[in-house]
Amino acid sequence: MRTVVSIGGSVLVPDVDPERVESYADVIESLDADGHTLGTVVGGGPTAREYITTARDLGANEIELDQLGIAVTRLNARLLVAALDERAAPTPPEDYETGGEAIRRGDVPVMGGVVAGQTTDTVGTAFAEYVDADLVVFATNVPGVYDADPDSDPDATKYDEITASELATLVAQTGVDAGSNAPVDLLAAKLVERSGIRALVLDGTDPAAVERAIRTGEHDGTTVVPADANGPPAEWNDE
Ligand code: UTP
Repeated sequence: MRTVVSIGGSVLVPDVDPERVESYADVIESLDADGHTLGTVVGGGPTAREYITTARDLGANEIELDQLGIAVTRLNARLLVAALDERAAPTPPEDYETGGEAIRRGDVPVMGGVVAGQTTDTVGTAFAEYVDADLVVFATNVPGVYDADPDSDPDATKYDEITASELATLVAQTGVDAGSNAPVDLLAAKLVERSGIRALVLDGTDPAAVERAIRTGEHDGTTVVPADANGPPAEWNDE
């Protein structure tokens, strides 16, 4: 099975510390050893936010801030490359073609950001589309997709399952404001809808939960089901 895992920066590198990165590398190595084909994308997390806030105060424009964010995602990606040792492509691919080539070689690509004006959710989904993945997993710092903002609405309910078009509508309604708690950004949601790829949105703070989701389809987050789904991947029935 071919899976792209988009790991939020706040999940992989909440602090610049080896522990979480090491546990993610162990999960990736174990899946890889069992024949899973993997692509990974890493976000910028608190370090990116710190740089962006500081550069904004210094007068940088929004595109310059995005470039700074991309640079940090690639720095974070290099931490995962370091932990994966020779299994990873040595440099974070800067475009989908280079990432796809790494997969064809049998390496695990670890991408960061690609172009200004988006987030790594979009990179993960576009890369999944480019390499014709069976699954895209968003390992985030929230438990899944909610019908309202769980931070401000005590009645917010998590979806176990949602269709891709429902997700796109939901994110369009709630997720465009700065600082919104949408678990994926709007362009990523639209690409999930377009691609027809099954997506999982789940809490990535426990890498073992991400491994279980990829191996078996079992998780406590939200499954985003494509419109013309043929049912879950056959591999999940064998587990
Ligand atoms: P992230 O995708 O990490 O943003 O990229 P995020 O939503 O803060 O996610 P977490 O906290 O890692 O989970 C960090 C910043 O890098 C720029 C954007 O400015 C983004 O906010 N970026 C990232 C791009 O401009 N293009 C990309 O392809 C990726």
